[in-house]
Amino acid sequence: MIKHIGILTAGGDSPGLNAAIRGISKAALCVYDMQIIGFRDGFRGLAENRTSRLDSDVLSGILTQGGTILGTSRDKPHNMVFGGIKQDMTDVITENYHANHLDALVCLGGGGTQKNALQLMEKGLNIITLPKTIDNDVALTDTTFGFDTALGIATDAIDRLHSTAHSHHRIIVVEIMGHSAGWLALGSGIAGGADVILLPEIPYEISSVADAIRSRARSGKNFSIVAVAEGALPRDQAALVKAAKQHKVAAETKKERKSAKLKLAALMAANSNHTATLSKQLEELTGLESRVTILGYLQRGGTPSAADRLLATRLGTACATLIAQETFGVMVAARDETAVPVPLVEVAGTKKLVPADHSWVKAARHVGTSFGD
Ligand code: F6P
Repeated sequence: MIKHIGILTAGGDSPGLNAAIRGISKAALCVYDMQIIGFRDGFRGLAENRTSRLDSDVLSGILTQGGTILGTSRDKPHNMVFGGIKQDMTDVITENYHANHLDALVCLGGGGTQKNALQLMEKGLNIITLPKTIDNDVALTDTTFGFDTALGIATDAIDRLHSTAHSHHRIIVVEIMGHSAGWLALGSGIAGGADVILLPEIPYEISSVADAIRSRARSGKNFSIVAVAEGALPRDQAALVKAAKQHKVAAETKKERKSAKLKLAALMAANSNHTATLSKQLEELTGLESRVTILGYLQRGGTPSAADRLLATRLGTACATLIAQETFGVMVAARDETAVPVPLVEVAGTKKLVPADHSWVKAARHVGTSFGD
């Protein structure tokens, strides 16, 4: 019988984490009579055995709170830095799991967390995960909690940018989170009526973006909103990054891997100011004034939307039921109106990117949005 479960939140925070912690814990405590321990700051807290009480007093009132009451970090079990030195902490984590008499560990996180959780599963721990991230890029789930809230925030920002862009006859380039997946830029770009949407999945030509803006100006609309995902790149740069990534994967020796990694890091650094460069190029090519707005961490902060609270509660309570049934080595995925367990081995290491022929992309093209391709 499952008696003791641990919970941790890892990776970037996401609205809905507290609703999920509450959903898992309330069901585990009240329906299945289990004991819950929280671990502070993701896998680091588990490695350092820093625990947190999760009883009904603590769970009360957290449904509507943003962030995570447990704290989070991007630390990986097999690669944690202590005093500047990298250490593999998987054995220590395994010891702490047993020392706390855990029968199961729930890891709430995005793509990186699914990978880290799989490693712990391979060490023999009973692991179950939930998909959270504002990026919506976790594979095999319809969606992730946090995405809907961030979508609302980014859409509201685009709405507000419209009136100022219109008044000043300017281009406004708005940078939206998403390094490798453009769901947030795409969704908010469509909902906010952006004129151009640039995604990591669809490399662009600056001349096509400028053409779209000039064509709007010719029809009397001398302002434009460009919604750009953090990881969107022009075609030439995207090709270089793709080749560098392939070299990294194909590297056979440690030396080759290190050099491929350095090359990729240099390319990323060269493109880190990409939104500002894009804005400047558009000014030069169109003759219109252009301004940049970077939405940044506003997209991750604050109270979760009703849809995210609902999703996190559905997945969290389903997670407690799966634990009671001793179903481990799975992520609790959203599938239509249900929550289904999907094998962690199938989720870890994969990403749900925007397919170029996705219905959202088609819809955007049909209302005249340019993708700069
Ligand atoms: O939460 C996902 C994400 O928001 C990415 O879109 C973003 O690039 C990244 O996290 C940045 O987060 P941090 O600075 O916390 O690593």
